[in-house]
Amino acid sequence: MTDQVNLKVLLEKANDVMTAFEEKKKAVEASPELKIIDELRVEFLGRKGHITGLMEHMKGLSKEERPEAGKSINVLRKSVEQTIETLKNKAENWQLEKHLSERNLDISLPADSSARKGSLHPVTLMRSALLEEFRALGFKVYDGPEVDLDQYNFSALNFKDDHPARDMQDTFFIKDRKSTVLRTHTSNIQIHAMLNEKPPIKMVAPGRTYRCDSDLTHTPMFHQIEAVVVDKDISMADMKGIVDKFLKAIFGSDLETRLRPSYFPFVEPGGEVDIQCTNCKGKGCRICSDTGWIEIGGLGMIHPNVFEAVDLDSESYTGFAFGFGIDRIAMMKYGLKDLRQLFEGDEAFLNQFPVQTNVNK
Ligand code: FA5
Repeated sequence: MTDQVNLKVLLEKANDVMTAFEEKKKAVEASPELKIIDELRVEFLGRKGHITGLMEHMKGLSKEERPEAGKSINVLRKSVEQTIETLKNKAENWQLEKHLSERNLDISLPADSSARKGSLHPVTLMRSALLEEFRALGFKVYDGPEVDLDQYNFSALNFKDDHPARDMQDTFFIKDRKSTVLRTHTSNIQIHAMLNEKPPIKMVAPGRTYRCDSDLTHTPMFHQIEAVVVDKDISMADMKGIVDKFLKAIFGSDLETRLRPSYFPFVEPGGEVDIQCTNCKGKGCRICSDTGWIEIGGLGMIHPNVFEAVDLDSESYTGFAFGFGIDRIAMMKYGLKDLRQLFEGDEAFLNQFPVQTNVNK
């Protein structure tokens, strides 16, 4: 049973609780330990704590007295909660400092030369190398969402509603959100970039992409690098020049490449770029399906419907875009036999790669 109290008595009790808390707080501040702070929390805020006790007393008050009492007790409770939180932070810092001062750590000692140094992932190496080339060619580096609306990944890129890429067999849709996908290519960034920037646009965007795919040259998660250039009088010759330049920078000037026509709804004309298979030097092997060539990317002149979707005048502007597979380029550069090796987390495989980012060293 709780004692019958009136408002005046209850407010006096609340005052006593506050005074008691202040006293205990002083003691805890002198040596802030988490265990003692928790005991303090239980004593004042716990189920049988002083503040819960004050709330119990409110039952005996009249309807008119309750709001004022409730308000005062709430102010008290909040102040106690905040103080306990501050004490906890202090205790944590105090413990950390104590621990560090007790450890005899000499950071001037030489590093253990036998310790493993790690290495950069081949995709990271290739992405850095590609970005370095594009930066040198005056491209701005862009980023865009990996989870995106159908509108950016498909519709604004001139994909019709019944295009097979929208099929569940090809694309990962977000459950219960039919119009949201894991982007299937970095071409969604074309749309974001053209909506956010005014021409001239010259940007490049690397990133993860997803498709229901898995074999020697396909993985369900892979990386692409997208480039978009929009200005007055941009031509296919500009596009070919840029593609040649960055591929030669990565593979050397002897690289054999071929550009063949292909269809993508967001470009016209469109094409695909193959490089000679570095595994068989063009003779034909299981990696290149006996063709001697490996496809590394798609490209083309931006379709007028895409310009319309982003409110750019297709009479005034022209542009090109391309999207290349970073993993495929890494596969060819490093002579990998199976693209899936890149994502198996095999230490022996990963340790073969260098720590520095220059792929040609
Ligand atoms: C596209 O993704 C187009 N967005 C490229 C594009 C951009 C065309 C701009 C025109 C203008 P495609 O599906 O062919 O195209 O993929 C491009 C490259 O990504 C491929 O050549 C390949 O190098 C890489 N790629 C595609 N699927 C996979 C996969 N499952 N695993 C690894 N790499 C892949």
